[in-house]
Amino acid sequence: MRENFGFLICVWILLWGNCLGRFVVEKNSLKVTSPESIKGVYECAIGNFGVPQYGGTLVGTVVYPKANQGACKIFDDFDISFKSKPGGLPTFLLVDRGDCFFTMKAWNAQKAGAAAILVADNKDEPLITMDTPEEEDASAEYVLNITIPSALVSKSLGDSIKKALSLGEMVNMNLDWTESLPHPDERVEYEFWTNSNDECGPKCDSQIEFVKNFKGAAQILEQKGYTQFTPHYITWYCPEAFILSKQCKSQCINHGRYCAPDPEQDFSKGYDGKDVVVQNLRQACLFKVANESGKPWLWWDYVTDFAIRCPMKDEKYTKECADQVIRSLGVDLTKIDKCIGDTEADVDNPVLKAEQDTQIGKGSRGDVTILPTLVINNRQYRGKLDRAAVLKAICAGFQETTEPAICLSEDIETNECLENNGGCWWDKNANITACRDTFRGRVCECPIVNGVKFSGDGYTHCEASGALHCEINNGGCWRKTQDGRTYSACVDDHSHGCKCPPGFKGDGVTLERCR
Ligand SMILES: *[C@@H]1O[C@H](CO)[C@@H](O)[C@H](O)[C@H]1NC(C)=O
Ligand SMILES: *[C@@H]1O[C@H](CO)[C@@H](O)[C@H](O)[C@H]1NC(C)=O
Ligand SMILES: *[C@@H]1O[C@H](CO)[C@@H](O)[C@H](O)[C@H]1NC(C)=O
Repeated sequence: MRENFGFLICVWILLWGNCLGRFVVEKNSLKVTSPESIKGVYECAIGNFGVPQYGGTLVGTVVYPKANQGACKIFDDFDISFKSKPGGLPTFLLVDRGDCFFTMKAWNAQKAGAAAILVADNKDEPLITMDTPEEEDASAEYVLNITIPSALVSKSLGDSIKKALSLGEMVNMNLDWTESLPHPDERVEYEFWTNSNDECGPKCDSQIEFVKNFKGAAQILEQKGYTQFTPHYITWYCPEAFILSKQCKSQCINHGRYCAPDPEQDFSKGYDGKDVVVQNLRQACLFKVANESGKPWLWWDYVTDFAIRCPMKDEKYTKECADQVIRSLGVDLTKIDKCIGDTEADVDNPVLKAEQDTQIGKGSRGDVTILPTLVINNRQYRGKLDRAAVLKAICAGFQETTEPAICLSEDIETNECLENNGGCWWDKNANITACRDTFRGRVCECPIVNGVKFSGDGYTHCEASGALHCEINNGGCWRKTQDGRTYSACVDDHSHGCKCPPGFKGDGVTLERCR
């Protein structure tokens, strides 16, 4: 059955990276709302950096710079800025593909004040995923600071937009991520494709930073049953003809069945690929054993503790060190050892064999070829591996209104209600608003205040309902205190309307009063 993994051959030697597999480009939709000539919905590919607004939309106006059209240089040098003025639409910067990394373009656009970057492809081809540079870029730090969303658009759309702009037309568009993730029910299934190698440069560093930062949220979501998380590990096999070679012997276990690249890419020093495979297997086994005992979230503790206590650089990337961590978490070590089995033997390991099967894409999820990769509800997540960005994406995976409280917490809210109550209904006198901030953007929903439920459309009207409705702003009705007596037009039954009390005339609402 090894032939099934033929696609892995092309990457087996050294690199994690793109390959000939069925790689699925995750897309969001881009809706041009004006001008009339190019109005319509287009596909664009989400970049693998920055923060896509999963579950949300962003409205903006497109600018194609007069100079620095590839955005490879700092816009300050050209005296160009894209900061939108108060009340103005955010700027989506359109730039040309080529000459520098996608991430460099996004970084320059962000620094100049753009709200999103659109990269126009330079040839007619299917959309690809813009990834972060593989090389250990000296300035890789900036990549982590990219927060604007990015999208690759086709050459033809790019050309149409440029043409419209050159004719002096205003190009407005909506970037929409609401359907980028399926959100069928109240539980989100997600997977993290990772590895235990901690010496692969910025990618490994950002991977472990993410695990450390996301651990708290992941554990709460899992313990409360909102999510089902599964970690995964990529391995590949050594082609038959090379099983006895020095390379396969140092990179593979179980007789060439499961291999990983050498961490330092140097066979003569440090740890070998097979050390990484064994530690990956130990992490996968820890998850299996912890999951069987009903505590799958212990994986997050193990992986973080192992990275802190057993790093390669301290020469502690060993079984002894791993076993100490496992013992301190109270997980049964004999079960882990049994799951790992004899790594020198010419036999299958059921856990790694299952992992290799899972690597092949199914349904809407393509083959996993970029490490690390997060898969949410069977779609590959694209964007920055950062706590808030990932939480936002996971939250977008819940059916609307079934999101857990953590999704509505401060760190991922959008503050759209601060300005003009987000355009929702509000009662100035009682200071009550129908605007509620969520990670999906604001929603206009009649509120519940002091136990009194308001009903209405949330945009133009909400009114208190129920027996207590007179408690809030006197139910919107007239009220007056005169000679120590209070007269009220609020009727304490379910009729909602205002009615002047006996002896008074008028319709009873605040403006008309009762006389
Ligand atoms: C990235 O952000 C961090 C923290 O906000 C900051 O200290 C650092 O200088 C930034 N790096 C770059 C290249 O701007
Ligand atoms: C983890 O446990 C749950 C519940 O027992 C089960 O449905 C799931 O398949 C397990 N996951 C793995 C990867 O074994
Ligand atoms: C209205 O309520 C909000 C929070 O509930 C508060 O921050 C704000 O100051 C109030 N405004 C007025 C005019 O009372």
